[in-house]
Amino acid sequence: MNILFAASEVAPFIKTGGLADVAGSLPPALAELGHDVRVILPLYEEIGENWRQEMTFVKYYYVRLGWRSLYCGLFQLERNGVTYYFVDNEAYFKRHGLYGHFDDAERFAFFSRAVIETPDQIDWAPDIIHCNDWQTALVPIYLLEERYHRRTLAQTKSVFTIHNIEYQGRYGREVLMDVFGLDYSYFNENMLKMYDDVSMMKGAIYASDYVTTVSPNYANELQYSFYAHGLEGVIAANRYKMRGILNGIDMAANDPATSESIFANYTSKKHKGKAACKADLQSKLGLRQDPNVPIVACVSRLVGHKGFELVTQAFHSMMEMNIQFVVLGTGEWGYEQFFRNAQIQYPGRVSTNLMYSAPLSNAIYSGADIFLMPSIAEPCGLSQMFAMRYGTVPVVRTTGGLADSVPPYQPNEDTGLGFTFGSVNPWDMLDAVRRAVDVYQLDPKAWSRLVTRDMEADFSWDRSALEYQEVYQRIHP
Ligand code: GLC
Repeated sequence: MNILFAASEVAPFIKTGGLADVAGSLPPALAELGHDVRVILPLYEEIGENWRQEMTFVKYYYVRLGWRSLYCGLFQLERNGVTYYFVDNEAYFKRHGLYGHFDDAERFAFFSRAVIETPDQIDWAPDIIHCNDWQTALVPIYLLEERYHRRTLAQTKSVFTIHNIEYQGRYGREVLMDVFGLDYSYFNENMLKMYDDVSMMKGAIYASDYVTTVSPNYANELQYSFYAHGLEGVIAANRYKMRGILNGIDMAANDPATSESIFANYTSKKHKGKAACKADLQSKLGLRQDPNVPIVACVSRLVGHKGFELVTQAFHSMMEMNIQFVVLGTGEWGYEQFFRNAQIQYPGRVSTNLMYSAPLSNAIYSGADIFLMPSIAEPCGLSQMFAMRYGTVPVVRTTGGLADSVPPYQPNEDTGLGFTFGSVNPWDMLDAVRRAVDVYQLDPKAWSRLVTRDMEADFSWDRSALEYQEVYQRIHP
């Protein structure tokens, strides 16, 4: 099949979150199944010179967006069996930061129109256009009309994947005609209308031929308003064409046996290198050198829905245990301030790193013992998978993809991959951390078997790529 995958960020070119990891690893997995997979993304200012060197200029054309006629340059590069297209328009994308600009609705409406325009321009007919989150949510809507007068789109079907329903692309109704170039027939309850606004994500859910989300459990949770953020009715109405497919990660690029981005290599059978990574992490971060004290780590944006209210409330009780604590990430001022103070309060035991750093995150995945992820909502979550791959045992709240990827540890059967708790409550979280620390300290052999199981667990795309293929074939037989 010909598959055009549209996303607003794609690793390794440009990344702010998990969407980029998925857009970077699912398309190569689909290409391996024998499909012609092409990925399209904006050419942001922040895409590095090293990648630009590899790109070739394809052509330029003009894209219509309402009354506007807009320049669209197309660059291309090949990698891992996939063709990547970069959409160039400096007025929209030569800026600092991917999102959060006053004209985001217009920038991504332009990008979505460019996605629709490009197949004719390169003379390639996609069977499927696979879109992701609100930034590409207009694509399935534009496709409703454009498929009738574009040669390459006549047979094209659309798939829309929800990575996080909290970000819906919601704007005042005045954007509909002026910015999106759509007429008022689209302002109806079974399309873009959301109360008096437009919701791009709602429109995509109705307009797409199929909707997926990034874990089976999140697909289930979306029937509740607690998780669906106002779209629970929309989800219910469209459930007939929806399913959850668990994300995978690139297992080869994240193999502790071969990875060059960690201090020492190790395997699921021989953990020695992991101890070296731990010693290195302790010395790097100014933690007391002690191989026997478990390091509990958080690598996350420091925001409420990642569960930091629980972490901060239980923090001092948690530090009464003989543990060290590492945090990496940026976010809300209150949490940043809390961890700044904690580092002063617990010298040699707490390390606060208020930044985004890929090298340090790898040092933490490989050097820590326990990975704490108490998210309030987590559509899939990839960090827990990276942590397990590097033999760091997760403690998670059983929500979204965390519930699907971290079966609870069962001491009697010696099964499970991590420690879990259910309710949004700091003391339940503390109890789960305590259970983990207990096994670490009191039963090192069981802990070591748990680390081995985590490292050997299969989080590859193998199964999930087949599930996407099944979805594509169902709507495009
Ligand atoms: C979003 C979700 C995260 C998911 C990622 C990739 O960032 O918040 O849970 O893993 O998308 O699908």
